[in-house]
Amino acid sequence: MTQKTLHYGSVRLQGSLIVPGDKSVSHRSIMFGAMATGTTTVEGFLLGEDCLDTIKCFRKLGVNIDVQATNVTIESPGINNWEEPSEVLYTGNSGTTTRLMLGVLAGSHIHAIMTGDASIAKRPMRRVVDPLRLMQADIRGRNNGQYTPLAIQGKPLQAIDYTMPVASAQVKSAILLAGLHATGTTIVREAVVSRDHTERMLRQFGVAVTTKDGAVHLTGNQPLQATHVKVPGDISSAAFFLVAGAIVPNSEITLQNVGLNPTRDGIIDVLQAMKVKLAITDVTEDAEPTATLTVQTSEMQATIIGGDVIPRLIDEIPILALLATQAHGTTIIKDAEELKVKETDRIQAVVTELKKLGATIEATEDGMVITGPTPLHGANLASYGDHRIGMMGAIAALIAEGEVTIDDTACIGISYPTFFEHIEQLAKSLS
Ligand code: S3P
Repeated sequence: MTQKTLHYGSVRLQGSLIVPGDKSVSHRSIMFGAMATGTTTVEGFLLGEDCLDTIKCFRKLGVNIDVQATNVTIESPGINNWEEPSEVLYTGNSGTTTRLMLGVLAGSHIHAIMTGDASIAKRPMRRVVDPLRLMQADIRGRNNGQYTPLAIQGKPLQAIDYTMPVASAQVKSAILLAGLHATGTTIVREAVVSRDHTERMLRQFGVAVTTKDGAVHLTGNQPLQATHVKVPGDISSAAFFLVAGAIVPNSEITLQNVGLNPTRDGIIDVLQAMKVKLAITDVTEDAEPTATLTVQTSEMQATIIGGDVIPRLIDEIPILALLATQAHGTTIIKDAEELKVKETDRIQAVVTELKKLGATIEATEDGMVITGPTPLHGANLASYGDHRIGMMGAIAALIAEGEVTIDDTACIGISYPTFFEHIEQLAKSLS
């Protein structure tokens, strides 16, 4: 717990940032590099606590992982030669690590026990455990496998044809990763497409994965081939500065190397709908496309955020809610019940904390309703140990009249360890 008191006074934000590596891609680079035999190299890796916990888990399986700044080298004997861990695998705050590792381990020869922090202990695991059990996986846990700690005894699996009840890339990925060690062709059907990093990256590791009409097909017994992974900047981290640039007076921020995967870039659609001044340049066509984004102080209009766009911006909703407090009119966020099962209940947390700052915001069953623009004032905020709620509070402090105290900012290191340095780098005093 690191309490922080923020009082920025009159600042403007000016300058350029290189956004840290994408969390989803960084996790997967370690997992897939560890499954492959040989040496995988990674550049632009995110040194956030979640991804470092993933590294620690794979070291316990006998995989050699060397970290030199944001370059990582993974030397693996391959999944068939992993060691059974003599200690519990600790997945920290990371839902991605916990859920994807369930899929990876389910079809291996390994027995392992996984547990995480107090937030992970409350997050639903049956959404992954149920389809894996349909594949014949042997997973035990509290409340019949709903909660950690979870014990897995890897064994031969059978492919399934599974229709996803929720839009979740973690569930889809766990099934596909288990499918790599299953007999037959695994099919995952999604009504709304969730982030597709697993599919893209498995192809980079030489696996044949096809996507057609919202269904992903993968045939078992395909070995991964070690490769080089270039991690794009995380659009979910860039989001905080995209909003900061729009709401802080007299600002202009350029964000370089931002990942613009089409299954992740819903925030761009919303910023454009809200009339934020945004320029997109230097677009690359890499396996994970990137671009440079430049944002300027803007007069925002309210909008409706719901339907198919939700999975494309699910992690950005806390900071978009702050943006909506500064937009003209009533913004409605709907179809976002998934927010209730994130690192904390993000509907309750966002509404409670933005109200403390003076916002006009109400929770609904599946989102929130926000009317603006409203001037914000100082307050004592809680982060709930949730990195994205902590960062939302810190960006709000840039426009709040008076002092904003946040009870725990250490959690921001989960996804954005250099967050406060980046604010300092951009903030120019007006006095
Ligand atoms: C992630 C998927 C999303 C997202 C999380 C990372 C991933 O979760 O919220 O931060 O890396 O696959 P869900 O799959 O639960 O939607």
